[in-house]
Amino acid sequence: MSSTAAKLVRPEIGALKPYLAATYAEGVLRLNANEAPWSPIAPSSGIDLNGLNRYPDERPWELTARLADFYGVTPDCLLVTRGSSEGIDLLIRSFCRAGIDECIINPPTFGMYRVYADVQGAAVKELPLLAEQGYALDVDGIISNWSDTSKLAFICTPNNPTGNTVPADELDRLCKALVGKGMVVIDAAYTEFADYDPTELLTRYDNVVVLRTLSKALGLAGVRLSLIHI
Ligand SMILES: Cc1ncc(COP(=O)(O)O)c(C=O)c1O
Repeated sequence: MSSTAAKLVRPEIGALKPYLAATYAEGVLRLNANEAPWSPIAPSSGIDLNGLNRYPDERPWELTARLADFYGVTPDCLLVTRGSSEGIDLLIRSFCRAGIDECIINPPTFGMYRVYADVQGAAVKELPLLAEQGYALDVDGIISNWSDTSKLAFICTPNNPTGNTVPADELDRLCKALVGKGMVVIDAAYTEFADYDPTELLTRYDNVVVLRTLSKALGLAGVRLSLIHI
């Protein structure tokens, strides 16, 4: 975990000991995992159920490695999620203490940031896009309104629904100003339609998270596959 993330993560999440799932060995029955030793009976449809009696790997390692290759990042900084929506939920639950911490959002923007903040009991501070400046991001407003309980800023670029992008130098300025103070979550769901890929910020700042999804440019919304680069 980066130093900014380690400082800001909910203490009880940072202290969690990873659950150790039973290890898989070819040909060995895992009675300690309470798996059935046999495959389920195949229905008359002829669907192959072989292997479905086994729990899968706790993380999809092979898929992660291939996606890391595709997106040009290292596998250890990539988390595969069921849609960016799950990524947004995970981030808010990991960083925001219910009833104490807050997220910053910039309306009009994607509605799920507020939904998951509400589910977690995290406050939402709204710093609207500057309509009179072509819906530009209010970087100075975010920086000057940041407080000890601000944990995440959700920056959607290109933004849903306005379609405008945050210039690279403005994103850079925001990330730099919040190092050690806040996580900048760049929702890059539509980045393939823009001319700047914010993934490069990960190499320069330790407080950047980039959300990518296969749902948009790749047309695979039904697969429910997205990624967190951190
Ligand atoms: C900006 C933005 N982020 C994330 C999502 C969620 O996408 P998914 O959960 O399919 O990855 C959407 C979907 O419309 C979106 O517009």
